Amino acid sequence: MVKICCIGAGYVGGPTMAVIAYKCPSVEVVVVDISVPRITAWNSEKLPIYEPGLDEVVKKCRGKNLFFSNELEKHVAVADIVFVSVNTPTKTSGLGAGKAADLTYWESAARMIADVSKSSKIVVEKSTVPVKTAEAIEKILTHNSKGIEFQVLSNPEFLAEGTAITNLVDPDRVLIGGREETPGGLKAIQTLKDIYAHWVPHERIICTNLWSAELSKLAANAFLAQRISSVNSISALCEATGADVTQVASAVGKDLRIGSKFLNASVGFGGSCFQKDILNLVYICECNGLPEVANYWKQVIKINDYQKSRFVNRLVSSMFNTVSGKKIGILGFSFKKDTGDTRETPAIDVCRGLLSDKAQLVIYDPQVPDAQIMKDISTPKFDWDQPGSTIHIAEDVVKQSVKVVHDAYEATKDAHAICILTEWDEFRTLDYQKIYNNMQKPAYMFDGRNVVDVAKLRQIGFIVYSIGKPL
Ligand code: NAD
Ligand code: UGA
Repeated sequence: MVKICCIGAGYVGGPTMAVIAYKCPSVEVVVVDISVPRITAWNSEKLPIYEPGLDEVVKKCRGKNLFFSNELEKHVAVADIVFVSVNTPTKTSGLGAGKAADLTYWESAARMIADVSKSSKIVVEKSTVPVKTAEAIEKILTHNSKGIEFQVLSNPEFLAEGTAITNLVDPDRVLIGGREETPGGLKAIQTLKDIYAHWVPHERIICTNLWSAELSKLAANAFLAQRISSVNSISALCEATGADVTQVASAVGKDLRIGSKFLNASVGFGGSCFQKDILNLVYICECNGLPEVANYWKQVIKINDYQKSRFVNRLVSSMFNTVSGKKIGILGFSFKKDTGDTRETPAIDVCRGLLSDKAQLVIYDPQVPDAQIMKDISTPKFDWDQPGSTIHIAEDVVKQSVKVVHDAYEATKDAHAICILTEWDEFRTLDYQKIYNNMQKPAYMFDGRNVVDVAKLRQIGFIVYSIGKPL
């Protein structure tokens, strides 16, 4: 029986390993993590992350060929394949702070693998890492090796949160990078290919050299984020000219060379990866003497920051230039629908912007825990994050001015304005007449996700501002 151990039981490690276990009954999969609460939750009825379809997959395999454990060394020692899926956040201090990926967690995982291994292993980079990381990992592994052979593969993950299970079960592609030039490298690539071949069609498993695989992941995220910044930049022009961004995106996307997906204008992209990975790409370009390329990609983040502050400015200026003391109902806090994840959610920047203008916020999100919302708004951001978001919002101001509720109707009762910041499906079908009746007048709607029917809401009496739509 092939034994897989995955270090890191997060948004990637958990779902990815659950699907491997589900699709490969003959493989034993153990997911290990240093976090005791995380592993306890993976072993409980309430999993640590909300992801449609995940509960069913975990329940089918847990205790059979899928296990979650805090005993890292024990399981790594006996594994044939070790996936490393630890977090690789942006560095917050030292060389490359604010741009470079922090590989502390990765390095400590690699050192542990080298220390405890008693047999040869394939070590798989599942985390998103800078191009050339495999070279450093190989050095750590071989330097400590006791005659044991380690093969390093790059197998970046392309799942998106909220659709992780469908993305894993039916991926557009699986990418495996390895040392194609050596027999050991080729064998390792084949071993991992055999795992995925249990359910992924042969032609969708792409094998490349290590550096192409590492760089493809950063490039893919940069291209995806670039599409959103492109359509968001056009949304500003739409608002200035009377064009409708939904119509423009639909017309532009009909060209098969462009494609219609991922062209939804929004209050800005969020999530733990787009900004982090582009900053990482920018840093690598700078280190390789390519400032023009670095500046090109930096612009994707600048437009995203602009979009978030543009949203706040439009809201404040259209409400007689002040929201001081006004109640604003915030619908949605997670960075996208169908996840409880709030990492880099644009809602944090919007809420902080409104609080700096002394608004009173009542927030509702179907999945994000109350304490997480309060923590996210109170935690100071780093100064390379969105300009303006570094304004210090004192914790007592957050306590006095922010309330979290568990119902959209409660969040919007007596409010002067509503902000939709996440495209949860339930916000499309709310009884907006009832909501309007219970609001202060004039009643404003600022739709940061283009989910409401603008004409219908205007008919009810709302003053509606939707991203990239004519007034
Ligand atoms: P996460 O923070 O949810 O999970 C990482 C886990 O690793 C945590 O539970 C942490 O406790 C654990 N960990 C850290 N150091 C450890 C160590 N030395 N030993 C054992 N456990 C350790 O992160 P994530 O969202 O799963 O992302 C992981 C990686 O995958 C990142 O590089 C990210 O860029 C990449 N990625 C994420 C997504 C996504 O949708 N979240 C998608 C594709 C790729
Ligand atoms: C993204 C990529 O889509 C995944 O392929 C990748 O594996 C992952 O990053 C990663 O490396 O972490 P994720 O961040 O989970 O996945 O979610 P997306 O669906 O990409 O959405 C990212 C952000 O862009 C969200 O805030 C979303 O609301 C926003 N978005 C997305 C738009 O504003 N408009 C769109 O048209 C699409």
